[in-house]
Amino acid sequence: MNIFVKDSQINIAVFCSGSGSNAQKIFEYFRDRKDVNIVATMCNKKDAYALERAKKFNIPTRVFNKEEFAHSDVIVNELKALKTDWVILAGFLWLIPDRLLEAFPGKIINIHPALLPAYGGKGMYGMYVHQAVLDAKEKQTGITVHYINENYDEGEIIFQAACDIGDCYSPEMVAKKVQSLEHQHYPRIIDELITQSIKG
Ligand code: GRF
Repeated sequence: MNIFVKDSQINIAVFCSGSGSNAQKIFEYFRDRKDVNIVATMCNKKDAYALERAKKFNIPTRVFNKEEFAHSDVIVNELKALKTDWVILAGFLWLIPDRLLEAFPGKIINIHPALLPAYGGKGMYGMYVHQAVLDAKEKQTGITVHYINENYDEGEIIFQAACDIGDCYSPEMVAKKVQSLEHQHYPRIIDELITQSIKG
């Protein structure tokens, strides 16, 4: 990886597993910011489109395997070498291991495509979430930005926004509304959070 890190900046690493549309919005949002630097896009899937998006923004990419991520300190050490302050999950599907939680206490956040604590937990991702919401005949769904802890989707909630889905009859229709909310809010919430924090 190309390593270029300035101490005066807040450094964030973005973790993805798939398309990376939220990552793209984060890249766009922070592109011209002198005080925030995206040090890497970290990914567990070598063919994830998120990697292409990162390359277009000249953001270093790193594809890793389960052993490196969950059963060794390889990834934690790389993040530390990059002087990472915040770990931002944007469609990253693996559970975060204790070693990463311990290395970045209170500094790992995620976005979930529903109003937690409803419709969260293992297996609740992508269209599974939206189908479950429709099956329950909900009239609203939304997004949740939350801290990460040792369980899927159970960390402290930072921000939520809701949208009406009374007119939606397919998970794809729900996904479109939810994605629009995600793109509208996630970069701004990240910004508020990280710039409020005092660099240690
Ligand atoms: C988003 O819906 C996000 O809430 C969830 O994973 C999805 C990622 O989508 N955690 P994308 O890869 O950012 O398009």
